[in-house]
Amino acid sequence: MKRPFAMIAGTGYAVPKRRMSNDEFLALGLETNDEWIRDRTGIRYRYVAGPDETLTSISTEAARLAMQAAGVTAAELDVIILGTASADHLLPSTAVEIQAALGATRAAAFDLSAACSGWLYGMQVAEGLMASGNAETILVIGGELLTRIINWKDRNTVVLFGDGAGATVLKRSTKGRGILSAYMRSDGTLANLLHRPKGGAADPSTPEIIAEGSDKIHMSGREVFKNAVRSMADACDRALDGAKMSAADIDLLIPHQANVRIIEATAKHAGIPMEKVFVNVDRFGNTSAASIPIALDEAVKAGRVKDGAVVLFVAFGAGFTWGSMVVRC
Ligand SMILES: CC(C)(COP(=O)(O)OP(=O)(O)OC[C@H]1O[C@@H](n2cnc3c(N)ncnc32)[C@H](O)[C@@H]1OP(=O)(O)O)[C@@H](O)C(=O)NCCC(=O)NCCS
Repeated sequence: MKRPFAMIAGTGYAVPKRRMSNDEFLALGLETNDEWIRDRTGIRYRYVAGPDETLTSISTEAARLAMQAAGVTAAELDVIILGTASADHLLPSTAVEIQAALGATRAAAFDLSAACSGWLYGMQVAEGLMASGNAETILVIGGELLTRIINWKDRNTVVLFGDGAGATVLKRSTKGRGILSAYMRSDGTLANLLHRPKGGAADPSTPEIIAEGSDKIHMSGREVFKNAVRSMADACDRALDGAKMSAADIDLLIPHQANVRIIEATAKHAGIPMEKVFVNVDRFGNTSAASIPIALDEAVKAGRVKDGAVVLFVAFGAGFTWGSMVVRC
């Protein structure tokens, strides 16, 4: 069997109603400011879910838009994969809640836990299901309500993250379009650099855990930064090698949107000029698994993904997990 098996047939994204600027952190009593956040991260805004919004509701909205773009009905979906680190409930998966909301009566549905690499991992799992002949039409969503699992008193993390969902419909490849190469890796020895230390089955929540915030995201920013650049740079090389391509063959690089400095360092290593790199971290912050599919949909709508364009995707996240993909769109 030979690639490509699976092509991107439609994209969509959704975010909560409320947009929050950097200045608003001052009103919360945090020692930070717009200049620091913009200089160190490139972020100006992020979206924050309100009490009436859930991961299921924004992911379902993103999914409907992607299905509309692909001309696919809920009844045609064989599988729904949601990459997320901020599921609505610990049990069952948020993917089954989306399955119910869409009325996708034939679809299997599951969440995939790979943090910021969740969508990219999900795309590769979906490709495998299609290559094996087990599925024809798959919805891959990356969705997060990270603002519900951050510590709003911790300036090291709170300014970085935002909420949102991006969705992609995969169909059987035609005319040579689709995933040309794919690469995934992990390194759990570094898990402590970006994690929620407690509140899971190993250390179930107690009033003390909640009071000290150890059930929320903790991050060693500088270490994560170094590992992100190293791993994403290597992943770009691997995906290009896999597709037997060079940087010059790439029309657009869509990296995980965590920090504009990480994006610039990755692009520089890959030898891809910034004019060919899609950046929207300034307007969304780091939306983890949602960041790449949101960026892809924006790039499509902005006319930056022409028919037949070759796009390089690269992700990195907690775990650590990372990966990359070359796709002819
Ligand atoms: C978090 C990050 C923006 C910090 O930028 P940095 O240039 O590495 O900054 P440093 O870690 O050197 O911190 C510099 C100082 O700023 C302070 N600081 C941290 N957050 C701040 C904030 N929101 N406002 C003001 N100061 C802040 C730190 O406390 C530190 O102070 P100190 O030197 O007195 O200890 C950067 O490390 C980063 O982006 N890391 C990767 C994060 C990420 O992408 N995570 C998800 C991966 S998927």
